[in-house]
Amino acid sequence: MKLFADTANLNKIREVAELGVLDGVTTNPSLMAKEGIKGAEEIKRRYIDICNLVDGDVSAEVFATDFEGMIREGKILSSLHENIVVKIPCTKDGIRAVKYFYDNGVRTNCTLVFSAGQALLAAKAGATYLSPFVGRLDDISGDGIELIAQIAEIYDKYDYETEVLAASVRHTMHIVQCMDAGADVATCPPELILALLNHPLTDSGLARFTTDAQKMT
Ligand code: E4P
Repeated sequence: MKLFADTANLNKIREVAELGVLDGVTTNPSLMAKEGIKGAEEIKRRYIDICNLVDGDVSAEVFATDFEGMIREGKILSSLHENIVVKIPCTKDGIRAVKYFYDNGVRTNCTLVFSAGQALLAAKAGATYLSPFVGRLDDISGDGIELIAQIAEIYDKYDYETEVLAASVRHTMHIVQCMDAGADVATCPPELILALLNHPLTDSGLARFTTDAQKMT
C-alpha cells in the first residue's frame, strides 16, 4: 500500500519524505488555507514546492464547483508539474470533468466519496484515484473501513484501474485497517505516519541494547 502525506505544510512533508517511504501528497482547500496561502500565484508556488519535495503524485484540488471552472482550473494545475493529479469533487459536474480529463490524458483524484455508487461512477469516468473519506463516515456512525473494503472488492471484480486512496484517516489503526481492507493508498496526516513507529518495546529494547553495547567499548 502506498503512503501519501495529507498536508500542504512543507516542513512536515520534508520530515516524512526524509524517511524514504513517502509515495505522494494530497491537499485540499482547507489544508491549503491552514498554511495561510493566499492568491493564485502563492497557490501555484506551493504546489510546485511540494512537487519538488516528493517523488510521487501530488493531488491539487480545484476550487470551482461548475464544469467549466473545474476544466479551466484543472488545466492550469496539471500544467504546473508532471506529478500533479487534479482533485475533483464527486458531483455531477465533477464526474463530467473527470471524464473530460481522462479523454485528454490528465490524471484525476475524485474526492468527497462516501458510497460505492459514487465509486462506480468515478471509475467509469476514468478517475486515476478515488478518495473515500474514512474518518468523516465514522464521524456520523458509518463504517469507513467497510466502505474501503467494499470498493476495493468491486474494483477488483470488474478490473477497474482506478486506485482506492483512503482519505480522512484519523489514527494509526485506520492505516493498518486500510491495508487489510485492500486500499491501494492511504493518505495520512504526517504525524500519523511517524506515529506508526511508536512502540514501547522498541524503546525499552533499544535502551537495553545500548547499555549492553556500552559495556563492550
Ligand atoms: C484528502 O484527500 C482529504 O481531503 C482529507 O483526507 C480529509 O480529511 P479530514 O476529514 O480529516 O478533513
